[in-house]
Amino acid sequence: MTAHEATTAARAVIDLDVPGDVISRHLYGHFAEHLGRCIYGGFWVGEDSPIPNVRGIRSDVVEALRALGIPNLRWPGGCFADDYHWRDGIGPRESRPTMVNTHWGDVVENNHFGTHEFMDLCDLLDADAYVNGNVGSGTVREMSEWVEYLTRDGDSPMARLRRENGRDEPWRVPFWGIGNEAWGCGGNMTAQQYALEARRYGTYCRNHGGNELYRIAAGASDDDVAWTRALMESLGCLTCGSNPTPVFQGVSFHYYSHAGGGINTESATSFSEEEFYGTMRKALDVERVIRRHEAVMDSYDPDRKVGLILDEWGTWWNVEPGTNPGFLFQQNTVRDALVASVHFDAFHRHAGRLKMANIAQTLNVLQAMILTDDSGAMVLTPTYHVFEMNRGHHDATALAAHVQSAPVVGGDVPGLSVSASTRDDAALVSLSNLSVDEPLEVRIDLRGRGASVRRARVLTGEDAAAHNTPETPDAVAPVALETSLEAGVLSVTLPPHAFATVELDLA
Ligand code: AHR
Repeated sequence: MTAHEATTAARAVIDLDVPGDVISRHLYGHFAEHLGRCIYGGFWVGEDSPIPNVRGIRSDVVEALRALGIPNLRWPGGCFADDYHWRDGIGPRESRPTMVNTHWGDVVENNHFGTHEFMDLCDLLDADAYVNGNVGSGTVREMSEWVEYLTRDGDSPMARLRRENGRDEPWRVPFWGIGNEAWGCGGNMTAQQYALEARRYGTYCRNHGGNELYRIAAGASDDDVAWTRALMESLGCLTCGSNPTPVFQGVSFHYYSHAGGGINTESATSFSEEEFYGTMRKALDVERVIRRHEAVMDSYDPDRKVGLILDEWGTWWNVEPGTNPGFLFQQNTVRDALVASVHFDAFHRHAGRLKMANIAQTLNVLQAMILTDDSGAMVLTPTYHVFEMNRGHHDATALAAHVQSAPVVGGDVPGLSVSASTRDDAALVSLSNLSVDEPLEVRIDLRGRGASVRRARVLTGEDAAAHNTPETPDAVAPVALETSLEAGVLSVTLPPHAFATVELDLA
């Protein structure tokens, strides 16, 4: 064994018989904005496209996302949501008005993908709809009528309009966003100003028939807990106990990762060791940010009636050379996969308060699952594989996983990240080796129940910048991982910069 191949070691403990909070499948949620080639040229190719599609929606993309068990899809933005007027996106496509997408590339939006197309997409995906309404440039009436159009049965003005446009039955819409980034592109409001708007808008987003809305107030950037406090204060008060006014049920925040230089400033595929570790540091820091928001929410709402929602997260690199800077198209490497895996470990640990998270974004934008091009090629990214390998955590019960000892890498980054969950006499263990160049021997003491390994897989690449292209679609794809399990101790050796899952059967 050469010096480079020498392994470092880590030890962990998992209590298989101490169940924690349920990990909502919605922590594996998605986000699709009218931005670059996410909707147009991504999901939507149009009915006349030579690319196989169902009613204009690309079939291979739907199939790939169904394999992830995609739980929900947020739409139409993002910043676009506060510019979007839903009535422009209904009725015969050829007569829909156009608009300019001023946020994203200044391109003309033809509104061919609107409410009916989005709900059709959700049906094809078998995903819950998360519709984000317009506070910044909309009205309370406009938002209220959109809810009615989507969800009201029987005879009403909006239900009649929906029927005129070819849809008899109302749709089920569980999640509703009250604006987006109201501190910035969503209206440049103060926290107090927005909190009042959120109460007003939330009031008029009605539950029609059996459709119960989970309304989500637009939240903070990163760890701006003053914003969260203003929203919580608007629902109750510090001494009122846990009885929040039910005008919204969730409070969001957004958190993007980069290598240390800020979003939109660094290359997705060309980075130094230092930048690799800077990225891991930033990704791991999401847990501190979650804790800070939780602390504020706990003091106003100790019974955890209000959910914390991270409805935008992921890496934000420079666009790929030669692509439209307003389209946010970036490659996706093993480094991105590890950003995803450490986020999920933190999500699992905070599942008691964190109820939904949406990666930005599903297709062709920022940290995407899938990259497509107009020739019909489709590439699954390393991040896609993390979502697939972690699918067993959906709606499972978190298990306590303690790292007893692990090397510190890159100066101050913990070399091992781990989380676990259980369901139906099975468990899933997720492990990330955050060393860019050292393998890691991991020994996990599985306590409380007998276990045997059903399957173990590992995801890595030649180096941390490895990624998939139409020519090399499987450069980064999961392969079998060797394990041993003796006297309750699970042992695996993780290659450098690797993510692994071990599926266990429990006795
Ligand atoms: O995901 C891209 C953009 O990032 C969203 O439109 C906005 O909400 C955020 O600033």
